[in-house]
Amino acid sequence: MNDDKQVIAVLGGTGHEGAGLAARWAKAGYRVIVGSRDADRAAEAAGRLAEASGGDVSGAANMDAAAAGDIVVLAVPYSGQQALAQEVSEALDGKILIDVTVPLQPPKVARVQLPEGGSAVEALQRMLGDGVRVVSAFQNVSAHQLSALDQPVDCDVLVAGDDVDARETVCQLARAIGIVAWHAGPLANSAAAEALTSVLIAMNKRYKVANGAGIRITGIPDQP
Ligand SMILES: NC(=O)c1ccc[n+]([C@@H]2O[C@H](COP(=O)([O-])OP(=O)(O)OC[C@H]3O[C@@H](n4cnc5c(N)ncnc54)[C@H](OP(=O)(O)O)[C@@H]3O)[C@@H](O)[C@H]2O)c1
Repeated sequence: MNDDKQVIAVLGGTGHEGAGLAARWAKAGYRVIVGSRDADRAAEAAGRLAEASGGDVSGAANMDAAAAGDIVVLAVPYSGQQALAQEVSEALDGKILIDVTVPLQPPKVARVQLPEGGSAVEALQRMLGDGVRVVSAFQNVSAHQLSALDQPVDCDVLVAGDDVDARETVCQLARAIGIVAWHAGPLANSAAAEALTSVLIAMNKRYKVANGAGIRITGIPDQP
């Protein structure tokens, strides 16, 4: 572990997407705290992820994880996104919150169904206020890809947010785990990434993609 690196708290890190991100960051030398609604479940998941990644992963209840993280990642289903963010909002003040939520509405997950008034992430920023710098990222990276720790992640990431410095920090965190990350503009543009996930799910079905299709941005000569 490198003590200069930020501590990353992954709320919902017991699940598919959060666990993949947590393991990748731990493997890259970050100290990672997995958050859960249940502290015991968090500890169990942390043990598994520490073993898989060889890194420093601990577990805690979501509120404690959010309080201990320098950067907090929200990786829970859309149905629980707002309530969990509200619950831990005090611990988020002054921090970057990376939201990976896709507003899927089962059972039609292969159909774009964005919430009224914009994207799921924008609604979160409105609810939390300016004291929390919400950045949208990783919606188009499948958990299958993330969890295959011995393989590189074969897709790019679109990073949207209203605070350019926060966006850059998240781009660097993505690059730290070997993912090509792009500034994709203000938080409102997260709608495109959120919508793209349903497009990718439809393509996974049509083309029988086991590990999750992804996107690549072309035409930018100096890839970061
Ligand atoms: N799976 C993917 O490939 C993928 C790709 C891109 C983006 N995403 C997005 O990432 C987010 C997480 O996806 P996932 O597939 O990892 O989901 P998941 O495995 O179903 O759930 C992740 C974790 O969220 C917690 N959780 C479940 N319901 C909750 C609720 N109502 N309130 C608070 N916490 C709850 C659970 O942890 P505890 O029970 O331990 O609290 C669970 O382990 C979603 O918004 C999804 O759209 C997923």
